[in-house]
Amino acid sequence: MTGTATRVPRGLDAGAGVAVRIRHSEGGGAHGYFEVTHDVSGFTRASVFQPGVRVPTLVRFSSTLGFHSSPDVWRDIRGFAVKFFTEAGEYDLVGKNSPIFFLNDDRAFSHLVVAQKLYPADGRRARFDLDRLWKFWLQHPESAHQVTWLLGDRGIPRSWRHQDGFGTHTFRWENADGEAFWVKCHFRSEQGTAHLTAEDIAELDVAEATYYRGDLRAAIDRGDHPAWRLHVQVMWEADAAAHRFNPFDITKLWPTSDVPPVPVGRLVLDSNPRDEVAEIEQAAFAPGRFVPGVGPSPDRLLHARMVGYPTFHRHRVTTPNAPAPMTDPAPEFDELALSEAARPHRDDDDFVQAGTLVRTVLDDPARQRLAVTAAQHIRPLVDPDLRLQVLDYWRRVDGTLSNQIAALA
Ligand code: HEM
Repeated sequence: MTGTATRVPRGLDAGAGVAVRIRHSEGGGAHGYFEVTHDVSGFTRASVFQPGVRVPTLVRFSSTLGFHSSPDVWRDIRGFAVKFFTEAGEYDLVGKNSPIFFLNDDRAFSHLVVAQKLYPADGRRARFDLDRLWKFWLQHPESAHQVTWLLGDRGIPRSWRHQDGFGTHTFRWENADGEAFWVKCHFRSEQGTAHLTAEDIAELDVAEATYYRGDLRAAIDRGDHPAWRLHVQVMWEADAAAHRFNPFDITKLWPTSDVPPVPVGRLVLDSNPRDEVAEIEQAAFAPGRFVPGVGPSPDRLLHARMVGYPTFHRHRVTTPNAPAPMTDPAPEFDELALSEAARPHRDDDDFVQAGTLVRTVLDDPARQRLAVTAAQHIRPLVDPDLRLQVLDYWRRVDGTLSNQIAALA
């Protein structure tokens, strides 16, 4: 394979000659530690979560939509990947800054990527094809919760420090007596959560491609070490069947009124990488890398991820001159068990939690900003039928919001 600019395979950085990520291409991170502050040994025997334990960690934050060196402030869902170096080996919690996801079936994932990922073949900035994006979201109404989240303030955090992190999937914890629990992990920012305005973004987009990365580095350099409190929501294994929402459906969260969060520990980032490429970009986070006492739930998206990532790691870290794999290998697991676990529960509905987000979590100004952004998404649509369908999608989220959007679009 020659290394000329015109024949550089996808996934290689022509200048540096190192492999860059195809997914979650733009990112940055830091080293730190995780320390246990509360006793959760009744729920897990994992050594990393035992009282008094403190382990080194590595965190990589990333954008999902853009490409390598695209501005990191673009509206997006952000990766929040945590690696715990435990005495039982590495444990990776490869999550996001969102507690939910667009899809709950991995078989549609490639279509999601095609619908919203920007692949600039010529290295120039690509533009979203909003018609294509909305056709996908309309075909997958289970996306409504994540789309509402994304077009609201949470889609443009003030910095990586001012966002929460989530394991997003449901995981299985097991204690020393062999009792099992379903668990959701949430990292709550001690800096608080805050967002940028559309005006901030317009300025930063042009001025500073690595704004978040710079902010993180500067904060750590001045000794202002960002920290997050890890909480878990814990459900007895036997209670899952009766829960009003399917607890393995990643398009839904577990209402804290049903399952209150339990504090576990504190994640602190206190050291910048000396070599960004070697320490952060060459890091490999694998959703299937667990330690005893922690394991997967029957969430089929998680199982697909457990199988898929190592292929990309081999391409990126081990054999950077091989052509990049563009599809994920078929997952190997018990299809029947995963299908059984995916059945809807009593209150499951594609729009119900998106509506709750709009009506009970957002305040009036946040709802207004969401309406403005949603209207900006509708105006450029070329297909007039699509405009009506998008407004109907919003009506199913919330009638008042949909009227606001229609008035602005
Ligand atoms: C079926 C659905 C999904 C598939 C097939 C998939 C696939 C991938 C692949 C292949 C990578 C690149 C790995 C690498 O180069 O190291 C990646 C990166 C990543 N994915 Fe996913 N993904 C899926 C859904 C998700 C979900 C639901 C989350 C979060 C809950 C997530 C979080 C991440 C993160 C944080 C990274 C970047 C990790 C890093 O910084 O190295 N992905 N994904």
